[in-house]
Amino acid sequence: MTPEAIGLIKSSYAGVTAKPRQLAARFYAELFAVAPNLRPLFPSDLTLLQGHFEAAVGLVVRNLDEMNALRQPLRDLGAQHVHWGARPEDYITAREALVAAIGGLSSSWDGTLERHWRSAVTAIIVPMLEGAAVHTAMAAERLSAEASEP
Ligand code: HEM
Repeated sequence: MTPEAIGLIKSSYAGVTAKPRQLAARFYAELFAVAPNLRPLFPSDLTLLQGHFEAAVGLVVRNLDEMNALRQPLRDLGAQHVHWGARPEDYITAREALVAAIGGLSSSWDGTLERHWRSAVTAIIVPMLEGAAVHTAMAAERLSAEASEP
């Protein structure tokens, strides 16, 4: 991402997170509106999760210019998500829900900002999906090693 795009994202993020958990609440509302099948995977009280989710997105936004440092923690988060039942296609749904939530809360939203945000969220979900894939591959390796033990 260009420094200009990163600057635009950072200032738009500051606007949409002025009130704590506002963005996360909107994100989950958007997510469950388009994918009600995902609701049962989450705890009924989302308060704690909203805080965690916003903290994670905030951390990424603050570090957009050094995403390499976040690759491993995001991979670990993706590996955890395998146990919570997140499928690859759900990440696309989540990305669109997050972009829609930010757009809905932004005072100055346009096609450029939407494109930049989609790239930024893609930069979050790609390492998460990689982490999920590595986690699954390691489970296969362990099984295979077990099977070849004498
Ligand atoms: C933009 C992508 C996503 C981000 C940044 C994200 C972030 C997070 C974070 C930070 C947590 C809390 C982790 C903790 O408490 O240790 C969490 C939990 C969770 N996420 Fe995600 N997530 C994403 C996508 C998804 C998707 C696609 C699903 C699909 C089902 C999903 C389902 C869950 C569930 C079920 C939990 C755990 C709820 C529980 O505590 O039981 N997430 N996520």
